[in-house]
Amino acid sequence: MSSDTRSVIIKGTGSYAPEKILSNDDLAKLVDTSDEWITARTGIRSRRIAADDEYASDLGSKAAARALEDAGITAEEVDIVIVATITPDMPFPSTACIIQAKLGVGNALCMDIEAACSGFLYIAEVASSLLKNGNYKHALIIGTEKLSSILDWEDRTTCVLFGDGAGAAILSLSDEPNTGLIDFKLGADGKNSELLHMPGGGSAVPASTNSLETRQHFLKMRGREVFKSAVRVMEQSAIEILDQNQLNANDIKCVIPHQANLRIIESLSNRLELPLDKFYLNLDKYGNTSAASIPIALDEAYRTGRLKSGDIILMVAFGAGLTWGASLLKWR
Ligand code: ACO
Repeated sequence: MSSDTRSVIIKGTGSYAPEKILSNDDLAKLVDTSDEWITARTGIRSRRIAADDEYASDLGSKAAARALEDAGITAEEVDIVIVATITPDMPFPSTACIIQAKLGVGNALCMDIEAACSGFLYIAEVASSLLKNGNYKHALIIGTEKLSSILDWEDRTTCVLFGDGAGAAILSLSDEPNTGLIDFKLGADGKNSELLHMPGGGSAVPASTNSLETRQHFLKMRGREVFKSAVRVMEQSAIEILDQNQLNANDIKCVIPHQANLRIIESLSNRLELPLDKFYLNLDKYGNTSAASIPIALDEAYRTGRLKSGDIILMVAFGAGLTWGASLLKWR
């Protein structure tokens, strides 16, 4: 726990999911799969798909506008914009700069950070540190993904798992000690990067006729190995952050897990001895939205009355990199 007497609180949240719903039955018309297989193996029943002319910055801007409204601050008051995404509008400029312009944010510090599905926890810690150490008051942090743009719609082992969406939060400094974002425990292991990656489109495999023909511009995943690592590191980071703060599972009122697979979350629930009904779940509606998954779930949990003032909330994530993280949040 930080010794700084000031805290960083989540002053507002917002989320946005594109209109188009793609059900498991719809997917069964595209690839050799079934509603039964997808539901039993993942818990996912449908996902949202952005329109062709709707980009990660558009989804993110809509979620951010709702977060600003919830926080009761204007775009001009934002000092920092940080976006977590693996599906930026383009390699550069950053999606944060594009969102800044779309929302009418002033000359704030703007950047993207890429930590895949752990991205929201990574940007929350970075923004939190900047607020505590710099001359800033309000940070807008956004997890936004248009994963449909990098899915191989001929690969049934991946295309059934993911969806599009965005979630955002306004982080603000508070003079009240030990509240808000209390602590973080983030980590990564780059040795296993090939378990989940998109090889094409960067300096290693720039776009070429060959890279297109060999389908390098799509997400690739070794699902079973990712599953095993996910359960292990999510449990480890959750236990470490609880120990570090002298808390136990009973102190946690709500868990906001990365929404990748219901079986991963059930396994985490067993290992942490935290009942499943303490976990906020929405993966049945959205699938895995990577960096957007935790902020969408947090916003929904708050707006449906699951979070009460003073509740200790555990957020826990895992993603490509491999990256992982846990965070403790005392609700405002
Ligand atoms: N429909 C029907 N059958 C399928 C499908 C499908 N969509 N996908 C795979 N299968 C088949 C496989 O081909 C295999 O068939 P076989 O036995 O004849 O070879 C069989 O189903 C079992 O495949 P497994 O991969 O062993 O299935 P598993 O139970 O491991 O479930 C899954 C696969 C859902 C991908 C699981 O491993 C998983 O969720 N892994 C974690 C993925 C994850 O969380 N990724 C996100 C990380 S976050 C980020 O940073 C983006």
